[in-house]
Amino acid sequence: MKRIGVLTGGGDCPGLNAVIRSVSKPLLLKHGYEIFGFKDGYEGLVENKYTKLDTIDVSGILTLGGTILGTSNTADPFHFEIKKNVFKNLSKQVLGNIKKNNIESVVCIGGDGSLSIAYKLFKIGIPIIGIPKTIDNDLFATDRTFGFDTAITTATDAIDKLHTTAQSHHRVMVIELMGRYAGWIALEAGIAGGGDIILIPEIPFDINKVCEVVKNRNRRGKRFSIVVVAEGAKEKGGKLIVDKIIKKSPDPIRLGGIGKVLAEKIEKKTGLETRVTVLGHLQRGGSPTAFDRILATQYGTKAAELVIAKKYGQMVCLKGSEVSYVPLKTAISKLRNIPKNHPLIKSAIDVGTSFGI
Ligand code: F6P
Repeated sequence: MKRIGVLTGGGDCPGLNAVIRSVSKPLLLKHGYEIFGFKDGYEGLVENKYTKLDTIDVSGILTLGGTILGTSNTADPFHFEIKKNVFKNLSKQVLGNIKKNNIESVVCIGGDGSLSIAYKLFKIGIPIIGIPKTIDNDLFATDRTFGFDTAITTATDAIDKLHTTAQSHHRVMVIELMGRYAGWIALEAGIAGGGDIILIPEIPFDINKVCEVVKNRNRRGKRFSIVVVAEGAKEKGGKLIVDKIIKKSPDPIRLGGIGKVLAEKIEKKTGLETRVTVLGHLQRGGSPTAFDRILATQYGTKAAELVIAKKYGQMVCLKGSEVSYVPLKTAISKLRNIPKNHPLIKSAIDVGTSFGI
């Protein structure tokens, strides 16, 4: 019996179940594979926790948010917490579990942290295929990660709702969005929601310029302003605002807090009433958009093709409108930030949006 493993690692995002479904179905239905779904990301591989996925299990999950397999953004086989604050390299144990279960290859659905681990596992001899997921859209080797479209749809809806209350109360509304060190969510949701000021990590902002824009709008009779700020944005010469450090996580820094700092400064400098909303994990929850369902389906079926072709150490990706694949090594080499000359930045500026510079 041919058998593969599937796992979802890192922060969850809408579309994970759609991928589990689309990678499993062709292998189950057409190629006679058995699918072992490892639970809670890499924890499942280390501790040999899995559930057998049959057609019945992967049916009816296309529209479901989260992941039926569970996930973890702290479990790393190379630095695994065996008891509180005691870490051990258990990668050999993973190798042993793969052999014991007679698993031909493992499909890892993850962001840059999980895919970096996937590459390390590949290097010690585990046949791996990667699928890029993250709401942050910050993976270098693909034009889109699934989950991002749903995140910006949720964020845009939130900005729309803030508009009506901002207008009624003549307030400045600051909304802090996720995205780690890249500003894709803030930029795209900011444009879609008609944010007056968009602040992203790629363009450090000047607080005086931000306040000038707010005051100018007020003078022109626009008595409210919407400021969309990415969690990784920072003032020129300033520091990133960190919410907490999670030591056992392969990516220990959790950003957060810039919205509050910014709102306080705006209120103080402009004298205008200012409120802050931190959208947080709502951006990761719920049912995927049609775009994400389609992309997730394409990624899953492409990964199934790679399983059949035994093309390991690769990550599926989107290039233009074509779903293809690239070596994992290339995929994890750097993050994808927004180039300063990106056409979306130009369009935003052309319609009068400020980037606080
Ligand atoms: O990478 C996805 C993401 O949601 C980031 O946008 C955010 O910075 C981080 O994960 C939050 O992580 P956690 O799930 O640990 O709160």
